[in-house]
Amino acid sequence: MNHGHARATAHANIALAKYWGKADPERNLPAVPSLSMTLDGLRTTTDVYFDTMLATDELVLDGVSVSGRPLERATAMLDRVRASADCATRARVESANDFPTASGLASSASGFAALAVAASRALGLHLEPGRLSALARASSASAARSIFGGFVALGAGASEAEAVAPPEHWDLRMVVAVTEPGPKAIGSTRGMDRTAATSPYYPVWLSAAPPIFEEVRRAVLAREIEPLGEAVEHSALLMHASMMAARPSILYFAPSTLSVIARVRQLREDGLPAYFTMDAGPHVKVLTLPRCVEQVENALAAQPGVHQTIRCGPGPEARAAPGTES
Ligand code: PMV
Repeated sequence: MNHGHARATAHANIALAKYWGKADPERNLPAVPSLSMTLDGLRTTTDVYFDTMLATDELVLDGVSVSGRPLERATAMLDRVRASADCATRARVESANDFPTASGLASSASGFAALAVAASRALGLHLEPGRLSALARASSASAARSIFGGFVALGAGASEAEAVAPPEHWDLRMVVAVTEPGPKAIGSTRGMDRTAATSPYYPVWLSAAPPIFEEVRRAVLAREIEPLGEAVEHSALLMHASMMAARPSILYFAPSTLSVIARVRQLREDGLPAYFTMDAGPHVKVLTLPRCVEQVENALAAQPGVHQTIRCGPGPEARAAPGTES
């Protein structure tokens, strides 16, 4: 028997000031402050059906039934929601992305944000955005930021993210260049643990990240693309430098990643505002302004090794779809 259903949507976010490393691995609290932009072009839609006939939770991702680690992580989130609602009923989760999951683009942020909203609504809980953000953060710290739209911060050691500015604040563009996938990447949690344990640059990262976060925050609030872009690239490269110096080294760069970065620098020499960032994968995300987005996207799409480009602007907060609760 079906006991509760809700549908929610959430959008992916890309950090302009990066999070890497945990202050408290047990509670999944970040060691450094981060600031992201929620992206309108990358959306996850998740349905949760609590059903007393189910013996275990079930997870269907983009139409395919999954088990193992992804199911365990979904169950851990559902357990937290069940504990809040004092409920033991198992659930079937159906989640779909409107962007290619197989491309290796991080879908965990939008996925856990959508799951936190859908699962809590399905059990009749009406949680504040801050509570939803804390729920999402326990699964994936970057997911805490996808609860909010526009520009979003997650402080060092913070349990929940907070909105810095709404999507209308600044009409920025982020073009995602999906490059060739390299060898299977190490997951972010393992990567962070190894960086913290073995990289001589990790303490440097920890002390440099907070002032970079402040620069990013200031430039976002002042809507100044040049200092923002400069700080965004510095944050990404400093984070990657700390990982590269781990033992064994963590290297997310593919050959095509470097050629896209070189192209971005060339675009800048030609006078275009274009700045890159990258996360725990080989893809490159390029920050620019609406008037240049066409030119930037065409230039990236023409690069060898770029499989696809996805154009994004500031996206909305995670929300339950009206009328789906039952
Ligand atoms: O929240 P996680 O475990 O997926 O880690 C995200 C880490 C980065 O994407 C590399 C940076 C960030 O702040 O999103």
